Amino acid sequence: MPQKHQVVDRRSFLSACARAGVASALMPSCSRVAWGQAASSVVRDIASDPLRPQYHLMPQHNWMNDPNGPIWWKGKYHLFYQLNPHAAVWGDMHWGHAVSADMIHWRHEPVALAPTPGGPDSEGCFSGSAVVYNGVPTVIYTGVQNAASKDVTLHDAADKLRETQMLATAADDNLLRWNKLETPVIAAPPAGMAVTGFRDPCPWQEADGWYLAVGSGERGKGGCALLYHSQDLRHWEYLHPLAQGKPTGSNAADPVDSGDMWECPDFFEVDGRHCLLYSTENKVYWTTGDYDAREHRYTATRQGVLDYGSYYAPKSFRAPDGRRILWGWIPEARPQAEYAAAGWAGAMSLPRVLGVDAEGQLTLKVADEAKTLRGAAVRQRLKGGTQRSRLEHLRQEIALRVAPQTKAATVRLIAEGMPVWEMQLDLTARIARCGERTFSLPALKPDEPLLRLFLDASVIEAFAGATQAITSRCYAVRPERTELEVVLAGDGAGELTRWPLAAISADRLTS
Ligand code: FRU
Repeated sequence: MPQKHQVVDRRSFLSACARAGVASALMPSCSRVAWGQAASSVVRDIASDPLRPQYHLMPQHNWMNDPNGPIWWKGKYHLFYQLNPHAAVWGDMHWGHAVSADMIHWRHEPVALAPTPGGPDSEGCFSGSAVVYNGVPTVIYTGVQNAASKDVTLHDAADKLRETQMLATAADDNLLRWNKLETPVIAAPPAGMAVTGFRDPCPWQEADGWYLAVGSGERGKGGCALLYHSQDLRHWEYLHPLAQGKPTGSNAADPVDSGDMWECPDFFEVDGRHCLLYSTENKVYWTTGDYDAREHRYTATRQGVLDYGSYYAPKSFRAPDGRRILWGWIPEARPQAEYAAAGWAGAMSLPRVLGVDAEGQLTLKVADEAKTLRGAAVRQRLKGGTQRSRLEHLRQEIALRVAPQTKAATVRLIAEGMPVWEMQLDLTARIARCGERTFSLPALKPDEPLLRLFLDASVIEAFAGATQAITSRCYAVRPERTELEVVLAGDGAGELTRWPLAAISADRLTS
């Protein structure tokens, strides 16, 4: 599973840095290039790199991971993300920042949060969330710093870092400058709890004040989200776990690998139902369930996997029109040496609108704003058998609809004559296969596409019906030499609609 290698690479990088005692020792020489001023050779390489996505948000160069603190403020969408400004590998986490009027076209802004030497976030500004408090955009995030072993909370092979929850307030309406509180707003996990980790705060407001879920877990008990309460975002009282996983029986060096540590909890209400998302075991789980608003306890009644592919650590926010929009990190799935050499790593998924249906099933759909990228539609009637079409470039939205009698469909990308990506849809057994992953196919509403693909160079975001998603990385695609093949079984029939999509920048710098 490629995503796993990605996360393992990232963590082993952290361990290696900690063992070496100095992160920069492992960083390529481009660490001296200031953020936002990529050397012209880097810009040139990126501009001609056919594998670099062109309509997914990503930093101009170097590494990104989780989305952080999405917020709508003064008529603009702001999205922050985990950024290593020095190299295209995980490390030295800052908050990158991009701003948009439509969640599709972005302008890169300077780094929003950087580690403060000697401060509680001296080793990194990890993931967090944004809210508006007393009219001021405020972020709560996890700071990491080196600590004596009794204070260590971040357990991985290195076990060197202490995690605390930090707060910063915006100093201007463009969210360019932030004032950090010098001391953490939550300085340690609950007394007596031997946590597997303590990070990624998710705050929300209720009638009697603010609540905050922090990703955590305990060996022998499983992952969990710890719940806190506050009146002012600055003083927090620990209540109890908001939700608790199950013991895994594992003793993995990194408890995220076994499910004993939940990263990036995201708790919200949509369509009148409560949802908790969390990331662990290289997967993102969704749950829907009942929230007892008096006891502040959440019981999941239904759960599933949010995306079966390269997708991790998502974070949602409420758009001004009430939609719940989810952003996720699309990790690389190739060896670290290759993405480090490419000079970029990681991309932001397209915005996904979340919902919950009458059965408590999470639904997701790419936000309609993505339609602004569409060129003229190309329509093709399909019958049983194989049909191929040439793709003029690697920015495509593709919708496949099939007639009810169709028993099976296969969709392939063929590069220079070789299949490089494939989705098999068995409509009798209601099962889909993509690479090593298998998942069930939902019932379709009338005229709903069976499959919707967003192809963007090495990224393919695929959606089956309203409920299933799988994001693939494919490094074997070739611009102008990639074809789309659809095979329908027997007397099957259908329609393929394809829209060439526009790039969001002229030079692949996504801004
Ligand atoms: C998830 C994660 C978070 C952490 C951040 C560090 O990918 O591990 O738990 O805050 O990435 O970059």
